Amino acid sequence: MINIAILASGNGTNAQQISEYFAGSDKVCVKCIIYNRKDAYVAERAKNLGIPAHYFSRKDFYENGSVMQYLKEQQIDWVILAGFLWLVPDDMLAAYPDHIINIHPALLPNYGGKGMYGHHVHEAVIANHEKESGITIHIVDNRYDCGTTLFQAKCTLTDEDTPDTLAEKIHLLEKAYFPMVIEKTVLG
Ligand code: GAR
Repeated sequence: MINIAILASGNGTNAQQISEYFAGSDKVCVKCIIYNRKDAYVAERAKNLGIPAHYFSRKDFYENGSVMQYLKEQQIDWVILAGFLWLVPDDMLAAYPDHIINIHPALLPNYGGKGMYGHHVHEAVIANHEKESGITIHIVDNRYDCGTTLFQAKCTLTDEDTPDTLAEKIHLLEKAYFPMVIEKTVLG
């Protein structure tokens, strides 16, 4: 069994979709969901899904090694960032070389970098009157939204689109592709 941990910061629709996708799998197991904002709705989703969820603070991530210890205890093989908004700490990158995957709601390298997450991305894309946007799934390194691209999918935009309608289009792409790309990648 390949064990994955999902890291999330907010709503957790992706975390839920990934968990549901692998629920019956005999090859991939979502062992736990880790979140870094106490009021993140993903905790509620995890409870409903019956998946252990743990809150860890900034200190736990960057200073005292608690998160790393937990990942080790849980025998985690791959780490999936699903709407996780902090840089991955160096010790995690060292422990999981090329084994951390992120999803970004734009066609990187455009609209990436610090501060470019969630709604901020969609607002910038609409403000620039882009004709298309999409998702990028990539391997994580020590920079925001860089690292080898595994997969991209596009959606088209019209003059009527708003950040909200774009967000809906992006969520549909995430739902359609993220779990499948994770599966393909972790199974090699
Ligand atoms: C998703 O759209 C994801 O692509 C994005 O945050 C959203 C989380 O939604 N990630 C980033 O912006 C990372 N830079 P969710 O919590 O409902 O899965």
